[in-house]
Amino acid sequence: MKILVLIFLISISLAAPYPGIRTSLGMSSLNEFLKAKLPKVVSDVLAAEIPDVKFSRHVLGIPMTLKLSNLEIKTLSIDTSNAEFTISDQSQLLLSLPHFNLLVEGIYTYYMPFPISEYFNITMTDCTVVLPVTISTLKSGHVQVKVSSMEGDLSTLTIDIVPKNTLSSIWVTISHLWPLSIYTNKVVVDLVDSVSTRLNPYLEKFFNSIKYTDQVGNLPIAGDYHFFNIDLTKETIEGEVNGTFFLVNAPGQKSDVKPPSTLPDIIGMAPIRVQFTEYYFDSLMWALYYSGILSFYIKSEDMPDNAPYVFTTSGLSKVAPNLPVVYGQNIPVDLQCSVYKVPVVSLLQNVYVSASVNCNFIVRMSPINKITAFTVISQLNTQIAASIKNQDGGIYVIATLDNGNTDFTDFSLINSKIGSFSLDKMITAFNYYVYAIVLDANDSLENSGLRLPLPEGLQVEKAYFNAYIGGVEIDFDPVFVNS
Ligand SMILES: *[C@@H]1O[C@H](CO)[C@@H](O)[C@H](O)[C@H]1NC(C)=O
Ligand SMILES: *[C@@H]1O[C@H](CO)[C@@H](O)[C@H](O)[C@H]1NC(C)=O
Ligand SMILES: *[C@@H]1O[C@H](CO)[C@@H](O)[C@H](O)[C@H]1NC(C)=O
Repeated sequence: MKILVLIFLISISLAAPYPGIRTSLGMSSLNEFLKAKLPKVVSDVLAAEIPDVKFSRHVLGIPMTLKLSNLEIKTLSIDTSNAEFTISDQSQLLLSLPHFNLLVEGIYTYYMPFPISEYFNITMTDCTVVLPVTISTLKSGHVQVKVSSMEGDLSTLTIDIVPKNTLSSIWVTISHLWPLSIYTNKVVVDLVDSVSTRLNPYLEKFFNSIKYTDQVGNLPIAGDYHFFNIDLTKETIEGEVNGTFFLVNAPGQKSDVKPPSTLPDIIGMAPIRVQFTEYYFDSLMWALYYSGILSFYIKSEDMPDNAPYVFTTSGLSKVAPNLPVVYGQNIPVDLQCSVYKVPVVSLLQNVYVSASVNCNFIVRMSPINKITAFTVISQLNTQIAASIKNQDGGIYVIATLDNGNTDFTDFSLINSKIGSFSLDKMITAFNYYVYAIVLDANDSLENSGLRLPLPEGLQVEKAYFNAYIGGVEIDFDPVFVNS
């Protein structure tokens, strides 16, 4: 039973480049990432030294200098399991760090001009610190996520000063004339910011691990996965990715693949959704075809033993009776098959590929004298089955031809040098074993997965494939592995 899927097609603006791939990252997946990284960030901040700070100013015409030294973080705790990225009503990505507790101890010294020193504490209890985050695509097509500096409210900040003697208590009073709090605030802001700035390298490393260009296995084709743009919705981060293939050996050769005029909606609900559009498949077929890998030459002696016909003029006489008559008995026959135009992909409830194939039956009279006795052209119709695999730190889609749904149709005989003959037996032969031979001889496509344009350290759980008109979607739950 197929699930009936309702698809909403939206018209796309012609000005924007057509995405081969679209990604949709639910906030929950970004938050999983945060939970995996934040504890380390907090411990890094705790372990770091805070440098002394010095401020100078004139107060009532008197030059005064304040130095904050021996600053030490006694407590820094964040409820990392409840820290989260959210999107504001103004479509601003925010990082909120709840239950932020801070206790910093230090010594302040006033020089006016003789020094007076006191111990002081800064405490911040149970605050929620909210930091703005920018997510964008750079001109280079790379994704950048940056947590910005703290803005806002430090009203819960308290500063305790313990006077050591009466003279000091006078200075405590004076210190309120010259608000110590402004400067201690700065220390706190810097500290909080150090949490955000320390998170940035992790975010940078994470997003830089996307393979923005990626060769398909060791095939001479590669996918371009640079991002066109990133949009925020209420609950997701939506990315549009180029998803065009190019020839590794002729990178300048432009494909003539025309994108469709509509873009299907992403329909899944999983935390991560990756949609491959028809353009992506068309581009892949274009690259496969022009890279020349869709052709196979199988020598007579390399034919599998279980082939129903021996690939010699005599063996194939059951199929083409005139072969031994024209060329003599027991001459080896090689098979050369190639796809002769760009295969056509149709995206419906499944992925269908149709390829025009021609096979030359080459009589090898001698190593240098090879004669094509005849050519059979036919149509290979197949359905693509796909599976998903975690490998080399990335997530790969492995495409395979679905054996049960593959056949050759529309046979015709062309360029025959041995007269015309019925293709009935040939048809059986094709459907039984040319396909098998071709696959056997060349399983490089099946061994070369297509990597998803997602950061490293993500693994797939509960993957679900969904094919519909105009697109194929993979929906899954991410699991973060620490690298
Ligand atoms: C700072 O806090 C610590 C720990 O709570 C306390 O022992 C110390 O007396 C405080 N110092 C001042 C100057 O308030
Ligand atoms: C998409 O990728 C292809 C292949 O690298 C490239 O030729 C093309 O310019 C890219 N499109 C855009 C809009 O950047
Ligand atoms: C299969 O494809 C690979 C990759 O292009 C190629 O190197 C190899 O020669 C092909 N095998 C056959 C039997 O044609």
